[in-house]
Amino acid sequence: MSLRIHSFEEYTQVYKKSVDQPEAFWAEIADNFLWQKKWDQVLDWDFRKADTKWFSNAKLNITENCIDRHLEKLGHQSAIIWEPNDPEQHHRKITYKELHAKVSQVGTMLKNNGVKKGDRVCIYMPMVPELAIAVLACARIGAIHSVVFGGFSAQSIADRIQDAQCEVVITADGGFRGTKDVPLKNVIDEALVQCPFVRRVIVLTRSRTPVSMIKGRDCWWEDEIKKVEIMGNPECVAEPMDSEDELFILYTSGSTGKPKGVVHTCGGYMVYTGYTFANVFQYEPGEVFFCTADIGWITGHSYLVYGALLQGATTLMFEGVPNWPDAGRFWDIVDKYKVNILYTAPTAIRSLMGFGDEPLEGKDLSSLTKLGSVGEPINEEAWNWYNEKIGKRKCPIVDTWWQTETGGIMISPLAGLTPTKPGYATLPLPGIQPCLVDENGNEIEGNGVSGNLCIKFPWPGIIRTTYGDHERCRTTYFSTYDNKYFTGDGCLRDEDGYYRITGRVDDVINVSGHRIGTAEVENAINMHADVIESAVVGYPHNIKGQGIYAYVILGSSLHDHDLTRRDILQTVTRIIGAIAKPDKIQFVSGLPKTRSGKIMRRILRKVAEGETENLGDTSTLLDPAVVDEIKAGAL
Ligand code: WTA
Repeated sequence: MSLRIHSFEEYTQVYKKSVDQPEAFWAEIADNFLWQKKWDQVLDWDFRKADTKWFSNAKLNITENCIDRHLEKLGHQSAIIWEPNDPEQHHRKITYKELHAKVSQVGTMLKNNGVKKGDRVCIYMPMVPELAIAVLACARIGAIHSVVFGGFSAQSIADRIQDAQCEVVITADGGFRGTKDVPLKNVIDEALVQCPFVRRVIVLTRSRTPVSMIKGRDCWWEDEIKKVEIMGNPECVAEPMDSEDELFILYTSGSTGKPKGVVHTCGGYMVYTGYTFANVFQYEPGEVFFCTADIGWITGHSYLVYGALLQGATTLMFEGVPNWPDAGRFWDIVDKYKVNILYTAPTAIRSLMGFGDEPLEGKDLSSLTKLGSVGEPINEEAWNWYNEKIGKRKCPIVDTWWQTETGGIMISPLAGLTPTKPGYATLPLPGIQPCLVDENGNEIEGNGVSGNLCIKFPWPGIIRTTYGDHERCRTTYFSTYDNKYFTGDGCLRDEDGYYRITGRVDDVINVSGHRIGTAEVENAINMHADVIESAVVGYPHNIKGQGIYAYVILGSSLHDHDLTRRDILQTVTRIIGAIAKPDKIQFVSGLPKTRSGKIMRRILRKVAEGETENLGDTSTLLDPAVVDEIKAGAL
């Protein structure tokens, strides 16, 4: 069976087969990839133990599938096009042949620095081609990459490096984003004070920001590459990996505790990202794919890098931000490289929409054939704007629902095949069996219903474990509802059986498409010396989708509130990163708690949403009077 589905009728047939005979279905899909050795068993699973294995005992290397197998036909095609932050600077194009040579070189460089199969490597880099190359080089030699987004603070990096016990870090002196110069190496130095076991830091030259290099620990990327050249650039053989060997760790926020390391493995992740890229985007040879996500997030991993390269696509990487030098930047890039497929987030769409039509003047955009959206619910207004102003009503929009934990897209139209409706992720991809459940865990059948979204059968891209703590994976995802994977999202299924994701039902806030746990933000706020207690909730935000609203109790009443507010924001930036800064901070003298001490977040959420009437039953509160004070002080 070929990978690509070509009509809606075919989708319906393939979907049916994927549910009736999932193992036969996925085996046929997997046959489209290059395996060093085929599997003994397609699927082995037990959701009650959070155990899933795909393609047991098969051997492969994902980079052979992303690069080597394309060399003969696509060797001279661009694999990566890179657009720098500064439009005046030179762009770069890297062919598949060049990518092969570079990944091989960096793979050897890592080996020269003592990196072995199974070692964890932390990557904290700007959006330059070397980031994608570093990721692929790790995969080439069987090292497990843990990419940390460049916006995270030293403390967040330290937590992630410690959790995964990374002994090697790859970074850059700094990176450019809009008018900002982000001092990446300095942030790493601060993080590593807490990580004495890190023995090597490889530093790419990018911004020429002054950095201090620690003798014996730090080295320059360029010097290490020279050493590989002196060796004569030996071919770096693709390490044979077991299908279930770990490919990468990516940290993501949940409703409790510190971020967890979501683990994906080689075989299943490859099959799933390759399959979904080909079908959702209906990728045609030669098309240019522009995913605006940073590689520090799952979208960057699965579609900017792996999915696109697995299908021999040309993938475009952009170092900068959508509104610099002006709000027409994305459109300039689309025109400059004749981008065919644009995959971005609702938050970017809404923000660009806010600039009106002017940034679109003189932009052609006629190369575009397909548009995608990811990361958060897309409101109808933004969907329509995207459709009319960017797609000129001729580009199908795929609203793709998925998660870090799912590895790839789960519910989405197939571009141009599935009839779409604004705001709807539409139908499950082949192999995906979604269901809605009520609070008692009973499945809600039929159409025109809503509930909590679960998946009742494994797919190849499913999370395998949370790094170093399998029990946490089981309790977080597989224990809420018996024998089902729980997504944490609320969802409705309309009369046509179409799915619309309504947002998180747990204590996770989705800010500009980035997941932030309320508990994490509270912990950070509570680090501030004057803070006694805090409670954080999300509220609707025009551009970001959700904003962060913090209720804070201070230790003494003698405060300059503006100063304290600024201090608290700084604390959050230091502990987590600027992305977690509350949009609003309201100082309160108490929080609405039940007699057992539980904060009634429902009330706080309503007030943050601007609702002051129907707050529901407040009679079980320890001190109902605090609610009046909170209402009176609402921002
Ligand atoms: C949300 C991003 C509505 C959802 C790939 C999910 C969406 C969380 C959509 C995962 C969508 C993602 N419509 N909501 N098309 N896509 N979400 O792990 O709440 O960063 O649980 O993965 O984003 O975020 P994550």
